[in-house]
Amino acid sequence: MEESRIKDLVKEAIIELLTDPNIPIQEFKPHLPHTAKLLSHFTSAEYLRSTPGFDGIKGCWERGDFYDWIFGNHLTSSQANGLFAEFGVAWGTTINHMSALRPDVTFYGFDGFEGIPEPWYNNPAGSYTQNGTLPVVNKNVELVVGWFDQSLPKFTEVHGDFLREHGVSMLHVDCDIYSSTVTVLEHLGKFLRPGSIVIFDEYWNYQNWEKHEHKAWTEFCLANEVSYKFIAYTVGSVQAAVVIESVGSI
Ligand SMILES: C[S@@+](CC[C@H](N)C(=O)[O-])C[C@H]1O[C@@H](n2cnc3c(N)ncnc32)[C@H](O)[C@@H]1O
Repeated sequence: MEESRIKDLVKEAIIELLTDPNIPIQEFKPHLPHTAKLLSHFTSAEYLRSTPGFDGIKGCWERGDFYDWIFGNHLTSSQANGLFAEFGVAWGTTINHMSALRPDVTFYGFDGFEGIPEPWYNNPAGSYTQNGTLPVVNKNVELVVGWFDQSLPKFTEVHGDFLREHGVSMLHVDCDIYSSTVTVLEHLGKFLRPGSIVIFDEYWNYQNWEKHEHKAWTEFCLANEVSYKFIAYTVGSVQAAVVIESVGSI
């Protein structure tokens, strides 16, 4: 039997069990969060199966391997000389990893360092706050401190010539929530070019994944006729990376 058919059958069986009027709901109550989580894996898998790039997407077992693979295959010095930026720096773990892979370029790390402005998943607003202490970052990292809607207009003005000439090489979207991702794309989306890489840290595979980074990204692409394909993901986790193939009306 085809793998996709097996998945459909499992999904149908779960829904049938959950909606069976003859089985007291109490029996399932303790399992509902797990079942909901399981369904989010199925919806993510179904979505991926229907997208361009599905066959060739690289699965990485660790986040570190995921970044290494993307940088080694799409962001070497001969391939990428535009903007490298992360949205959501917090402790600096990821930006330090990435910036060590390209010591020849400046990585801009955007964060208010006051935590997420709205609740997301199981985390209340304010989660990830650094309580006024900025992370220690590599020499080739510049922190841009502030809420994105305030820091980005100034940044794009100051770096306008560079952005128009070189575009975006890599955006790492690790701000979790829909509104923050929308702000990033509103200000930097127009500098995406064929070959630009966008890495999402919370793209899919968790409950309500359709309402956050994924939603902001797909709405942006639809509105601006941007086409892209998935290039890599983390196995069993929530990260995904895309490469831009063409830009229409940006
Ligand atoms: C999950 S943490 C980032 C983790 C980080 N990449 C690391 O490797 O340690 C999410 C961060 O996004 C930031 N953030 C989310 N929305 C923001 C916004 N609109 N403006 C500024 N910072 C924002 C939060 O302050 C938080 O530090």
